[in-house]
Amino acid sequence: MTENILIAVAWPYANSDIHAGNITGSHLPGDIVARYHRLRGRNVLMVSGSDSHGTAITIKADQMGKTPEEIYKYYHPRFIELFQKLGIGYDIFTSTHTENHFDVAQKVFLTLLENGYLKTSVSKQWYSEALGRFLPDRYVEGTCYFCGNTDARSDQCEKCGNELEAEKLIDPRSRVDGSRPELRETEHFFLDLSSLEPQIESFLKARESYWRPNVLRQSLGTIQSVGLKPTSITRDLDWGIPVPLEDWKGKSLYVWFEAVMGYLSSTIEWAKLVGEADSWRNWWFDQNAKAFYFIGKDNITFHAVTWPAELLGMGDGFDRRMGTEDPQRLVLPYNVPANEFMNLEGRKISGSHNWAVWGLDALERYDADAIRYYLTVAMPEQRDTDWDWEEFFQRNNNELVATWGNLVNRVLSFTYKNFDGKIPNPEQLRESDQELLRVIRAGFDSVAAKLEQVELKSALAEVMALAGEVNKYLDVHGPWFEIKSDREQAAKSLYTAIQAIDWIKVMSAPFLPHTSETLHRLLANETPLFGSQFTQSVTDNLGEHEILGLDSRGAEARTGNDVWKAGMLEGGRTFNQPVPLIKKLDHKIVEEERARLGKSS
Ligand code: MF3
Ligand code: ZN
Repeated sequence: MTENILIAVAWPYANSDIHAGNITGSHLPGDIVARYHRLRGRNVLMVSGSDSHGTAITIKADQMGKTPEEIYKYYHPRFIELFQKLGIGYDIFTSTHTENHFDVAQKVFLTLLENGYLKTSVSKQWYSEALGRFLPDRYVEGTCYFCGNTDARSDQCEKCGNELEAEKLIDPRSRVDGSRPELRETEHFFLDLSSLEPQIESFLKARESYWRPNVLRQSLGTIQSVGLKPTSITRDLDWGIPVPLEDWKGKSLYVWFEAVMGYLSSTIEWAKLVGEADSWRNWWFDQNAKAFYFIGKDNITFHAVTWPAELLGMGDGFDRRMGTEDPQRLVLPYNVPANEFMNLEGRKISGSHNWAVWGLDALERYDADAIRYYLTVAMPEQRDTDWDWEEFFQRNNNELVATWGNLVNRVLSFTYKNFDGKIPNPEQLRESDQELLRVIRAGFDSVAAKLEQVELKSALAEVMALAGEVNKYLDVHGPWFEIKSDREQAAKSLYTAIQAIDWIKVMSAPFLPHTSETLHRLLANETPLFGSQFTQSVTDNLGEHEILGLDSRGAEARTGNDVWKAGMLEGGRTFNQPVPLIKKLDHKIVEEERARLGKSS
């Protein structure tokens, strides 16, 4: 049976463009792992969408003098444009502002209520006399009572990472007008994490052996040290999903409570769109399905604790609500490989100060794979990392171009010229040729092991080391010299090198899909490695929303064909005239890019 793999990527807030830190944090690692599993012929579904609700959006709208809807509608298509250009291959990138998502979120709420995991409680909330309304979360800033950071948001301190209880904030001030808000009583629903704690703990313990330490620390560690408390899941806010109960007018589901449900709702939306309405069940009820959640470290609690709590709390109740006869329990996360943060030139990325490498902007000057390569070697898997333009330049020219691009170009161009545009067809390979092929072939297993574990940096380093092996081989067997005395020797060397290149093309495809696809075409293959991306407009009772999709889910995935293996190239086959795969950069870009930083655009 084909394995079902769900690639669930954190939903970006639709209030700002996406920058390098967001890409390397979640979208790119998600895409690399998705492409790897697709090449293995597995049944992959990669989902995400715009996180469209909550105060992140309303604050931006207030600042811009626009409605929250206008804000979301401006950024959402820009996300889609970026993912298309960068090759982030979502099967569906949708939005939380859809009829389908509202429906799913309200069902989840009602299921949890029915199962007894939602309780109401009256609490105190900051209220603005001047505005005549409550000021949720991010509308209030003040001093963190853990670390003294004077710019803490009332729900979370970005400096020390702690979640905050709003009413304990020191010296609160309204972000709208700077005035000091007062505490007033209001009623809200709470998710009873305390009674779900034993189930959450055993879910986490079952995954302890292979999860990243930081993720375990912020989930299991918290449970074992301080324990879980009920957490509020509604807000006094109109922009969002209404609480589906009479007498709760004007209150919405808390954005974090509903956004995580997007993983489920988008799968359902995708299934409807492709006309296989039940197929979402493959990823949500097959207990062997693996769901990977790609997020940044500030999202850990919501994905490793809150979302599993929602799933556990629903039991088989969600499926019952969907009208299934033999209702099943939803699949829990298999892995939550959260990344740390990426800084920029030694400073924290700050969108509002334009201290950022914006995805769409960078793509105007650099190829997608050049950006992908650097964002993978500098991915913050274990600790915070830094985007440094000098390093971007060096890595591109000295590694990507020198080790891989030039290798391909030199071997294919020389062969094209001297062997009539055909892959040579030597009678027998030498022991040293076989030896190189053994080394490269072994990469299929070792690179795969790393990709399965989501160790992407070392997986890519290994692929590049394999390319290095081919270069070393060519230093010994220079076909450019061999051809002068013995054409058959040159044919053996070139065949061997092209064979090695063809395998490395597959192993590097998750990281450098555009480069591999071009090379795949050069080598005269008709079926592309991956399916192609498209956009589509969907209309429902909330209006229109654009989605990003992927046709055929990759030519191979459809057929269950495992491409991740060392098939032998047919000698004598004609291939296409080589073109350089990767551009060499001029050193002047370093100064130019640095000069751009921090300026208003
Ligand atoms: N919008 C959040 C952020 O940008 C991430 C939400 S992930 C979700 O940090 F799954 F909850 F949507
Ligand atoms: Zn703090």
